[in-house]
Amino acid sequence: MFLTLQLPFRLDDAELAAPLAPRAQRLYHGCRRLSEGLGRLRTASRTGPPRSKAKAGDLAACLLRRKAFRKPPQRRRLSEGLGRLRTASRTGPPRSKAKAGDLAACLLRRKAFRKPPQRRRLSEGLGHRRTARRCTRMSTVKEQLIKNLIVEDKTSNQKITVVGVGAVGMACAICILLKDMADELALVDVAEDKLKGEMMDLQHGSLFFATSKIVGGKDCRVSANSKLIIVTAGVRQQEGESRLSLVQRNVDIMKSVIPLLVKYSPDCKILIVSNPVDILTYVVWKLSGLPATRIIGSGCNLDSARFRYLIGDKLGVHSTSCHGWIIGEHGDSSVPLWSGVNVAGVALKTLNPNLGTDSDKDQWKNIHRQVVESAYEIIKLKGYTSWAIGLSVTNLVESILKNLRRVHPVSTMVKGLYGIKEEIFLSVPCILGQSGISDIVKINLTSEEEALFKKSANTLWNVQKDLVF
Ligand SMILES: NC(=O)c1ccc[n+]([C@@H]2O[C@H](COP(=O)([O-])OP(=O)(O)OC[C@H]3O[C@@H](n4cnc5c(N)ncnc54)[C@H](O)[C@@H]3O)[C@@H](O)[C@H]2O)c1
Repeated sequence: MFLTLQLPFRLDDAELAAPLAPRAQRLYHGCRRLSEGLGRLRTASRTGPPRSKAKAGDLAACLLRRKAFRKPPQRRRLSEGLGRLRTASRTGPPRSKAKAGDLAACLLRRKAFRKPPQRRRLSEGLGHRRTARRCTRMSTVKEQLIKNLIVEDKTSNQKITVVGVGAVGMACAICILLKDMADELALVDVAEDKLKGEMMDLQHGSLFFATSKIVGGKDCRVSANSKLIIVTAGVRQQEGESRLSLVQRNVDIMKSVIPLLVKYSPDCKILIVSNPVDILTYVVWKLSGLPATRIIGSGCNLDSARFRYLIGDKLGVHSTSCHGWIIGEHGDSSVPLWSGVNVAGVALKTLNPNLGTDSDKDQWKNIHRQVVESAYEIIKLKGYTSWAIGLSVTNLVESILKNLRRVHPVSTMVKGLYGIKEEIFLSVPCILGQSGISDIVKINLTSEEEALFKKSANTLWNVQKDLVF
């Protein structure tokens, strides 16, 4: 850079020049600083981040204005640099007043700018076509990181589908995940937004359980190849409403999903939870065309859990040590087997022959009344029941998928048992394993218990016989 100074005197005229010498000197130094500044600007444009004390933004803006940098590639390089400077000033330690040298060093230190793939993404994002073209030819991070050795069979071995992602379905889902019951969990529901939200929410918890795949969809296709399908879809009781009043609405839902579910998972077992569970288990059996042993109603597994909890609460003993069974309908006509209630093999009936009767001074009968009323009470208090049924269902899932052959009071075809002549599903103690219900445990019912069981069967048959599906 050359600057010509037009001075109003001749420099060899010493006398005239003497008083003006300091001014000329200042002008001379000013010009030098200016030329140095421009030199630094050029250097900055060649080498990237500026080294002067000027604010990074001002300097870059100044460079942009300069003719030399209006050419597209330079502008691009510049705006990349500017972008990085802005990012660095946002994220890194140096702010606008920091030395440019520090800023550049900081950029270099930042891991993000040292990694080639991130560098690539950055220039792609800035619309650098040539760079982008070059990058697509380069291998992805995944390709660089992982060397694939075999083509794997992606079919799941322990896939569980939950149909209906309401309060009960999601309680089942979370319990199943926390107990690592499945290698794949599929969710099906007609309410698409709710379904997607629930699916994403569970997926984001993947770090904390060992189920590698969670999928969801409105289409039953997503359930394909399930080992076990849990049906919780359907309307639920409102306050004071009985389970039996839900029947026709939930039968219609079963008609819409069961044939499709069986089509995509012909070898599955189906566990029905929707109410009225005993009647719907019968309906699903008919709709599915599968053997009755593979259609299981969650039945009185929950009622018996409530029964044992309340007995334990009364005795001050943990419910796992209090044994007792409720059979028959999951609902108002369920039958408590007082004859079998025991702790450590000691039948309570031998200690109190009136146990469970009206003449019992201890009023053990109230425990069964509480069991029957508990769902109504919980619905009145919180609007629905969820946790106990979720845990109870997961207990059944464990017995089936791990082939534990544990005995559970679940709903199964009882035609021929205790004098029942109709195709009715009611809870009796069943052995559960990988084939579903493989055996029924024959309990010696007292005459009162058998009469109550038959009454329960009649109650259900009166509803079931008029069903259209
Ligand atoms: N067996 C038991 O011990 C027991 C215990 C509690 C509740 N339940 C029953 O479980 C059922 C569900 O209760 P909830 O509280 O979760 O109800 P909810 O209303 O919270 O959820 C029901 C879900 O089913 C879905 N659904 C409706 N039609 C569908 C279809 N055709 N396909 C797929 N999904 C469909 C709804 O979109 C909803 O998300 C009710 O019938 C309830 O009475 C049974």
